[in-house]
Amino acid sequence: MEDLFSVRGRVALVTGASSGLGRHMAEFLARAGAKVVLAARRLEVVEELASKFAADARDDGASLGVHLDLADPGTVPSAFDRIEQAFGRPPQILVNNAGIIHFAKFLDHDDETISRIFDTNLKGSFAVAREASRRMAGVKEGSIINVASTAGLRTPGFLSAYAVSKAGLIQLTQVMALELAHHNIRVNTLCPGNFVTGMHQVMADNNVDDAIIKRIPQRRFGRPDDLDGALLLLASDAGRYMTGSVVKVDGGQTLSWL
Ligand SMILES: NC(=O)c1ccc[n+]([C@@H]2O[C@H](COP(=O)([O-])OP(=O)(O)OC[C@H]3O[C@@H](n4cnc5c(N)ncnc54)[C@H](OP(=O)(O)O)[C@@H]3O)[C@@H](O)[C@H]2O)c1
Repeated sequence: MEDLFSVRGRVALVTGASSGLGRHMAEFLARAGAKVVLAARRLEVVEELASKFAADARDDGASLGVHLDLADPGTVPSAFDRIEQAFGRPPQILVNNAGIIHFAKFLDHDDETISRIFDTNLKGSFAVAREASRRMAGVKEGSIINVASTAGLRTPGFLSAYAVSKAGLIQLTQVMALELAHHNIRVNTLCPGNFVTGMHQVMADNNVDDAIIKRIPQRRFGRPDDLDGALLLLASDAGRYMTGSVVKVDGGQTLSWL
């Protein structure tokens, strides 16, 4: 059973690993024995976390921090070069998690905001997934987990650019799954509901927390460790026949009738 869900010794790249869900998922994978690469714009933060995770690992733990800016395409291949230098191979697991949010009425979304959200959440995530896929195809092995959001499945108010970017990422996942299966690369979407992280603060600031909780059948926001089971399923051989799947972890929020 343990072997089925094992990620021990695998190289796992987690983007957006300097905070929130990405930081938690990187730490969880490191504790599970993966060689974790933490990527974000704040290099000093991910380098410090990488040293901590490597020191905490039970056996031959190895973690690395790399600089990656989804809005700056040139940083993508160099991050993968750095990983190959360090580990002698491309990652077997990509958790394509970095993202940003903007809370405003549709009518108040300006051009700069729309570009920033799309360039990061969609174009940037696309570029990371494509670079990972090219390199994984060379070794005929890979599991890509695109972190979208239930906002890409339902119809949230005040998040138009964000919701569209996440819906696009879900569609991208499915197209990738279709085209990459013959390279032995699986591609799935993880869709968190509402989790308490720095990103979630925008909801609290706009006084919508109470309204959201009433629409979650389990009547609570998610905690980062609520993602652990789904992440391990998609990352490990336990999910070997899963590709193109959309895995929701949302306390039932997308089932709400309101
Ligand atoms: N929290 C939720 O309720 C929730 C729900 C559904 C989906 N999600 C998704 O989960 C992912 C993580 O969200 P979170 O809640 O953990 O948010 P968070 O705490 O704000 O973390 C976002 C991460 O993305 C990184 N990032 C932002 N812009 C970047 C860029 N241009 N290039 C590279 N990295 C960038 C940030 O690092 P740097 O600033 O160091 O670059 C940070 O590590 C996002 O894709 C989000 O849409 C979150």
